[in-house]
Amino acid sequence: MDLVLITGHSSGLGLELAQAYLDREATVIGMSRRQINSKNPRLYQFHFDLSREGNWEDKLRESLPRQDWSRVLLINAAGTIAPTVPFGSMEGAQISRAIELNVTAPLRLMNIVATVYKDKTLRIVNVSSGAAKKPYQGWSVYCSSKAALEMASRVLAEEMQAQGRDVRVISYSPGPLDTAMQVELRKKKVEDFPEVERFIKLHEEGKLVSPKLAANDMMEQIDRKDLPYFLDYKLTPPN
Ligand SMILES: NC(=O)c1ccc[n+]([C@@H]2O[C@H](COP(=O)([O-])OP(=O)(O)OC[C@H]3O[C@@H](n4cnc5c(N)ncnc54)[C@H](OP(=O)(O)O)[C@@H]3O)[C@@H](O)[C@H]2O)c1
Repeated sequence: MDLVLITGHSSGLGLELAQAYLDREATVIGMSRRQINSKNPRLYQFHFDLSREGNWEDKLRESLPRQDWSRVLLINAAGTIAPTVPFGSMEGAQISRAIELNVTAPLRLMNIVATVYKDKTLRIVNVSSGAAKKPYQGWSVYCSSKAALEMASRVLAEEMQAQGRDVRVISYSPGPLDTAMQVELRKKKVEDFPEVERFIKLHEEGKLVSPKLAANDMMEQIDRKDLPYFLDYKLTPPN
């Protein structure tokens, strides 16, 4: 059976993934600030604020189940788009918390699973964005955090390949998702975030990607027999 660790399991893409893996009889460890209303005995929820400097690390390490899992999956889906204002208008503390959540927490988690599940088949997915590759005004923290996470994914894959371990890493870019994050984006002021009108239009035209579609697609990629050590993947939604 699979053990699946998912950050951001309380909403959007992470929630769809948690539900889909539970439906597949996997054991799921969800980590976010909110909990979901589920009585499934295979769901273990951790109430972690991943933007707070690893206060959660020891608790997770000691709680991780050490059964004979056929695969261990880590999906870093938690993320924040804030702050979405240009340089000169950001708060320093908000920058630090966003980097902690979008970059440091996924790296800590990759480090933990690479040690605790040393002899296991591991699949790691870091949820990325087009913003990892393209600069957007008002998104300096988001763009740079997703770019940093992608590079960390590449380094991990190189290390695992050099060690001959059965570990594969996917940097997965789902495209604009119809989730709470987009609701937050559509409220931004055009002077802070000049792209806001494009996102409002995508929503009006029904062009946002459903989190269910992205979750199913991601699971297919994870299961690929020909998965390379590192996969830089962008979802192309059907028209
Ligand atoms: N939405 C898009 O258009 C889009 C596009 C490309 C990539 N992405 C990426 O896709 C991923 C999922 O985003 P989504 O659209 O599904 O967003 P979402 O619905 O807003 O969900 C974000 C998740 O992150 C968790 N989270 C936020 N702050 C946290 C914190 N401090 N500690 C722990 N968990 C925290 C939230 O849980 P709590 O609030 O319960 O803590 C929630 O479960 C993100 O990495 C995002 O960058 C999104």
